[in-house]
Amino acid sequence: MHPLHLRSAGTSLVISTHRGEAEITHWGADLGDSLPDLSILNEPVPPSAADTNVPAGLLPQASSSWQGRPGLRGQRVIDGVPGFDFSVRLRVLSATTDGSTAVVIQSDPDAGITVTSNLTLHPGGLLELRHELRNDGTSPFQVDELATVLPVAPDAVELLDLTGRWCRERHPQRRPLQQGTWVRTGRHGRTGHDSSLLFAAGTAGFGNRHGKVWATHLAWSGNHEQFADSAADGRTMIGGSELLGAAEVVLQPGESYTSPALYAAYSDRGLDGITEAFYSWFRSRPHHVSGPRPVVLNTWEAVYFDHNLDTLLELAESAADLGVERFVLDDGWFRGRRDDHAGLGDWYVDETVWPKGLTPLIQAVTSRGMEFGLWVEPEMVNLDSDVARAHPEWIVGPSVASYKEGGRLPLEWRHQHVMDLVNPEAWQYVYDRIDALLRENDISYLKWDQNRDLLEHGHAGRASVHEQTLAAYRLFDALRAAHPEVEIESCSSGGARVDLGILERTDRIWASDCNDALERQTIQRWTGMVVPPELVGSHIGPTTSHTTARTHDLSFRAITALFGHFGMEWDVRAVRGAEREELKRFIALYKAHRDLIHSGRMVRADSHDESLMVHGVVASEYDGGIPAGATAALFAVVKTRTSFAEQVGRVSLPGLDSDRGYRVELLFPTPEDPDYSHTVIEAQPVQWLASGAEASGRFLGEVGLPMPVLHPEHAVLLRITAL
Ligand code: DGJ
Repeated sequence: MHPLHLRSAGTSLVISTHRGEAEITHWGADLGDSLPDLSILNEPVPPSAADTNVPAGLLPQASSSWQGRPGLRGQRVIDGVPGFDFSVRLRVLSATTDGSTAVVIQSDPDAGITVTSNLTLHPGGLLELRHELRNDGTSPFQVDELATVLPVAPDAVELLDLTGRWCRERHPQRRPLQQGTWVRTGRHGRTGHDSSLLFAAGTAGFGNRHGKVWATHLAWSGNHEQFADSAADGRTMIGGSELLGAAEVVLQPGESYTSPALYAAYSDRGLDGITEAFYSWFRSRPHHVSGPRPVVLNTWEAVYFDHNLDTLLELAESAADLGVERFVLDDGWFRGRRDDHAGLGDWYVDETVWPKGLTPLIQAVTSRGMEFGLWVEPEMVNLDSDVARAHPEWIVGPSVASYKEGGRLPLEWRHQHVMDLVNPEAWQYVYDRIDALLRENDISYLKWDQNRDLLEHGHAGRASVHEQTLAAYRLFDALRAAHPEVEIESCSSGGARVDLGILERTDRIWASDCNDALERQTIQRWTGMVVPPELVGSHIGPTTSHTTARTHDLSFRAITALFGHFGMEWDVRAVRGAEREELKRFIALYKAHRDLIHSGRMVRADSHDESLMVHGVVASEYDGGIPAGATAALFAVVKTRTSFAEQVGRVSLPGLDSDRGYRVELLFPTPEDPDYSHTVIEAQPVQWLASGAEASGRFLGEVGLPMPVLHPEHAVLLRITAL
């Protein structure tokens, strides 16, 4: 069989089958039209090794003497006892391609297993891979692992992955790539604050805009593992798999299990090239958000649980005056929900707080031209709720019996438990309640929260994180199908459910509960590595952050929130005088530039000064389908802390068209804004700041410009326009 060759946007993926099983011979730089006879790549057989070549399989197999982590583990269950026919040796049945997609079918008739692998290399270079395993045998087959992995070239010597915690999601960590396995495990029953949105290998010192990078993302919101696995022979695979509990997936004859999709990108121009591939894929989806992303006011850090109609009406009026376009009522509106001890599951408007329902607030909001959004947490339940009292059997636990009948309850987490969505009656109840809310009220937006890990998570006495994750996905899908006009945000104690599985069924993620601009610079920088800014909720919080007690000027908070889906989470009634005027000007600035921010290329400079973060968005305009290049850009120059050499040297503004002329201007804060004097140290004025600078894209990228000396935890926003 001929090799399969997928090509797009500078990337090639070659699958060969001449050694009996499918293997990815190359994933990396584009190889052009013609390929040689790939048998020239057959390796020598070293001493003390299997007597044949060992393929680096599309699904690496222990039966082929692959010394690294096998891609498929499972066992047949005979008379209820697992452990029979534990070995699978897959051989290619068919392998077909149309140049951008490939389907490879491999089977082991003895083991009674067929695996179908689907690969798509999307036009922007993003690869999508998933496997489907079918049990062709006559007895049940227990799936222990079905991994999606890809080989990286030998010059990949460094690993990058992300980790975090509540209020500090998605921070990078790097290490050398050495023999052995580096595994990032998520056992939270949700994606997790520490989950690695991106798992990458690259050449020595790869950076924002240099080096070769091979990067993967596992699109799954339940338990998972992501890993880099360097086998004893030096070959390395990166990828991931769903982490399945004991007997969590047992396939009856004829049944199938499909792995989560692995998304992957290769770049020879650093991490920015990886981001381009992800953004291009996101933005080409037919259901991707379109139109201007509305300015949001979320009530959480403004009023918390203190729901009072008069206060909220004032807040809505104040928001409208500022130019807010979407008003989101957060937690606290439903029955019994005066704090976080009670009410989850009782999805009825609380009659004691809202005697006329939500209508008076919704009317006030919509009559001022704003959309109304509502917070919900459909997958959860408090024991102190009518639904828990009526249906203790709907609450997840490890036992077959409900907790009322002596079964054990998992530990409480934020005083709450998990609704067993695998139970069809519980699922239907939740669906009906959210559906009714959406039918009975003029709601354009749901902030869908999920605030706990899944511990001792079982259904009918069997581990069920897998089934629960799929049931939650079905809930999203069904509500979206019934209410296609309603936008949904994925929130999970801030940013604990950020992955492409959830983003297939939602329109925005809440990146973090931390609205501290300094923390947000890093959180958003690495979230934005994969997820484009139009999908990343980003709010101006109160002057003194509620989660870190740091105080920041408005300009720093605003410039930070600008590079996302912008909003506020702040009691804006108290914002007065010059600060209110500055806030209004900034909201107008967001509206004037959101088209650029939400469609452009994300660019991050490789800064010589670690106290500086320089990032921007460059317009990628098209004229009648023909790329018209970088016609405009916005750049933020962010000073995160003091440094030894106070910004001596020039700051590069990369990503522009080399031969085009540009004008660079200070956009915000300007000398008229109250916090300008806190931001720019005027003792050493930069000459070009007063009237702007003009230079070519090549000059701005290679030489750069001197920047004003900035105080720490401050930033300036630059506008760049093609001449
Ligand atoms: C956690 C979320 O991340 C917050 O934004 C807020 O919605 C609270 N839950 C409400 O309980």
